[in-house]
Amino acid sequence: MHLRGLRKSFRSSSGPVVAVDGVDLSIGYGEIVAFLGPNGAGKTTTLDMVLGLVEPDAGTATVMGMRPRAAVQAGRVSALLQTGGLLRDLSVAETVRYIAATFPRPRPVEEVLARAGLTELARRKVSKCSGGEQQRLRFALALLPDPDLLVLDEPTAGMDVRARREFWDTMRAEARAGRSVVFATHYLQEAEDFAERIVMISGGRIVADGPTAQIRERNSGRLLSVDLPRHGAEDLLSDLRALDLISEVSTSGNRVLMRAADTDAAALALLRDVGVSGLEIASADLESAFVALTGNAPAEAPAGTGARTRPDHGPAAASTNGTGPARSAHPSEENR
Ligand SMILES: Nc1ncnc2c1ncn2[C@@H]1O[C@H](COP(=O)(O)OP(=O)(O)O)[C@@H](O)[C@H]1O
Ligand SMILES: [Mg+2]
Repeated sequence: MHLRGLRKSFRSSSGPVVAVDGVDLSIGYGEIVAFLGPNGAGKTTTLDMVLGLVEPDAGTATVMGMRPRAAVQAGRVSALLQTGGLLRDLSVAETVRYIAATFPRPRPVEEVLARAGLTELARRKVSKCSGGEQQRLRFALALLPDPDLLVLDEPTAGMDVRARREFWDTMRAEARAGRSVVFATHYLQEAEDFAERIVMISGGRIVADGPTAQIRERNSGRLLSVDLPRHGAEDLLSDLRALDLISEVSTSGNRVLMRAADTDAAALALLRDVGVSGLEIASADLESAFVALTGNAPAEAPAGTGARTRPDHGPAAASTNGTGPARSAHPSEENR
């Protein structure tokens, strides 16, 4: 999958919102990649462009060398989306059979049910399934065309710890079978535990990209933080961004977070040349990297608070999404 210069803005009542602000990314065969970022970072919009559900304002997305829609139609890529209708009155097996009929060469229904861990639940009504079970059903639907690339948008939202673990065990088995998996999450732990590569997204941009171990290691250095003054905050930030000794300047609440290779030299320059106050130096781990790079505290997994999945009354389809309620619930101000 190749993304080049992808951009997308939406109109909103408070003016245009830049959801994706220049994303360049390539993902190869057999990779398990996490899109990690806070709510409103632009993960869903990016994935929607990968799936041809949203047209980019600029840039291109290709999947398996094809335009996204063609790749979806050819069954090379399929998705488990954050929202998406399931028909409440159908049973689990009926749902899978119904959607299977829309594919030219679907995998057998029994096999797909087994791979998604739904054999025992085959006769259960969708309306009687828990959030986690419904996600597994959406996952089963995504397996029907036997795709090379699986796109999962916050797949474990609404699942408890056990369901989450079981889900990822299944997913790992799928990846071992040679499938590429790209998933969006705002849970740091989930990205760390299940991805081989982490693409950190904040404010519609990629702020870090690398093997999970490398991102953890690269961020095991030190972080500096200082007070963000009420007045003259923008001046301070531009002074800091101009300092060679410092990289990755971001804000979180009333603090400015920075990274520096030479912490001592950076601290000296901050105090002497910039005149900052409230300087703190801390050793960094992946969690503080997330905070520093995205300006948000990572969500704690598991979340009972995450977006609940529930059946809609719309037509059942794994690949239709549109503008679901989960999306408008993200305040656009949370990005930075
Ligand atoms: N259809 C839409 N209309 C208006 N704004 C949208 C729409 N979709 C997304 N946005 C806004 O774009 C930004 C990125 O959203 P999204 O891609 O859903 O982020 P994430 O999936 O990382 O939480 C947010 O500010 C969100 O409110
Ligand atoms: Mg999202």
